[in-house]
Amino acid sequence: MPLLQIEGLDWSPHGARHWSLQDIALRVEEGEFVGLIGPNGSGKTSLLRCAYRANRPERGSISLAGEALWQRSARWSAQHVAVVLQEFPELLGLSVRDVVAMGRTPHQGLFEGERHEEAGLIERSLQEVGMLALADADFLDLSGGEKQRALLARALVQQPRLLILDEPTNHLDPRYQIELLRHLRSLPVSTLASFHDLNLAAAFCDRLYVLANGRLVAEGSPEQVLNAELLLHVFGVRALVDRHPLAGHPRITWIV
Ligand SMILES: Nc1ncnc2c1ncn2[C@@H]1O[C@H](COP(=O)(O)OP(=O)(O)OP(=O)(O)O)[C@@H](O)[C@H]1O
Ligand SMILES: [Mg+2]
Repeated sequence: MPLLQIEGLDWSPHGARHWSLQDIALRVEEGEFVGLIGPNGSGKTSLLRCAYRANRPERGSISLAGEALWQRSARWSAQHVAVVLQEFPELLGLSVRDVVAMGRTPHQGLFEGERHEEAGLIERSLQEVGMLALADADFLDLSGGEKQRALLARALVQQPRLLILDEPTNHLDPRYQIELLRHLRSLPVSTLASFHDLNLAAAFCDRLYVLANGRLVAEGSPEQVLNAELLLHVFGVRALVDRHPLAGHPRITWIV
């Protein structure tokens, strides 16, 4: 049984009939790292929002660990799925540690009297993303990359089974891009993440889904999906696709 299974999903924004997600079928198996790629406006964020119970589909089914997502509460969903969004929240007057502690909210009440354990989880998550030294800093004073890492720590402290990340490497320098993705791969968690950097997606994802105009147009391993013909069709840009000389995964060079 896949951890996340989406079948026959249709969704459109309120009042907008010109654009919609149509007939989406997607799954994330236990332990998989799945990438979602596609141009601006193709529907990546909208589809991720469906997967974490923020967009309610008009048709189709979404199940998480075998349970219909919309039959369960938002709190149940938050106990199983953690999210790092594309945009940073305006978290006024909160330290990094406060922000990370917010990740425990869905579990509060379950571990009453285990404050010590909670604090330990928070410290560990901060350490995992290299943010322990900035734990007492004001969240709003952080750089973009530091905010991204703090928000990832908040997601990790939630101890989710499924991690949903919308362009997780957006604000990160090369070192932290690679460290973050390596780290995520080493965790006992399943991940569904959108990417604009196709070379990072090729290097780290087990499987990819390609969205264009609200429809899935390809899926498979990076080797199966990433070829010059598809990239020209979907992104309208010519590319040279060969193999990474060290790692062997597809390597994309845009022809500018
Ligand atoms: N709540 C909404 N109301 C109106 N339109 C919306 C809403 N949410 C999404 N859309 C529209 O749906 C389309 C898909 O948007 P979405 O944010 O899912 O794309 P995306 O693939 O994540 O793009 P990007 O790469 O720029 O992040 C866009 O045309 C967007 O304007
Ligand atoms: Mg988006």
